[in-house]
Amino acid sequence: MNLELPPLARKLSPEQPTLKTGRLVLRPLGSADAATVERLAGEKDVASTTRLLPHPYPPGMAEQWIAALPSLYQRAEMINWGIALVDGLLLGSIRLTLNPVDNHAEMGYWVGKPYWNNGYCTEAARAVVAYGFDKLDLERIYANYMARNPASGRVLMKLGMQQEGLLRRHRRKFGRYEDLVVCGILRSEWQRLKREARSESTTFPQS
Ligand SMILES: CC(C)(COP(=O)(O)OP(=O)(O)OC[C@H]1O[C@@H](n2cnc3c(N)ncnc32)[C@H](O)[C@@H]1OP(=O)(O)O)[C@@H](O)C(=O)NCCC(=O)NCCS
Repeated sequence: MNLELPPLARKLSPEQPTLKTGRLVLRPLGSADAATVERLAGEKDVASTTRLLPHPYPPGMAEQWIAALPSLYQRAEMINWGIALVDGLLLGSIRLTLNPVDNHAEMGYWVGKPYWNNGYCTEAARAVVAYGFDKLDLERIYANYMARNPASGRVLMKLGMQQEGLLRRHRRKFGRYEDLVVCGILRSEWQRLKREARSESTTFPQS
């Protein structure tokens, strides 16, 4: 029996890559970012539609979380990037949780409330999805959002994801059960969208 895992881990560079877009730099978080993460993720409206952010956000938790990220990268379990403007302002976080057995990844993100609705999440997520397909050769990238969080659904639609299902009362957040919408995109779909955008000379996918 061949117990060798697919070679996803070998596709990761020794140091986590920084991704650049027109307005953003996606970079590894460091301990100097902890106070900003604590302030932005500490807003109830940010925590409320995420799976794991607690509220109130405990002092010191951001530092512990950031300190754990490099080993998650080294073990090819998760790649987390801070989302920053090119001038350095940190405004959010985005991650791929890797599944080497199935060669797919789950994407998750949050953006600080003062920065919502500027297209930042879409721009960051587009770069992360491109990295997942073009550099890691993933077969599929998926994301879930609570049905009462249409902004996240809109981000995923702008990326070219499809709604694949609805998991009823699947999440319990702040003591309430929430319906969860499952979205995903396949590598073949991403490549087709890229080809179409190239032939039409448009930005891909639409923002
Ligand atoms: C979801 C989230 C990451 C989006 O970040 P963002 O940077 O504001 O996203 P973008 O600006 O790229 O796109 C947001 C889109 O949602 C739309 N939108 C915002 N509120 C909306 C609403 N109530 N109903 C429908 N669409 C909405 C915006 O108009 C925009 O679409 P458009 O470009 O077509 O106008 C941000 O709201 C957030 O961090 N929320 C809290 C944490 C969270 O929910 N994380 C995701 C867990 S799945």
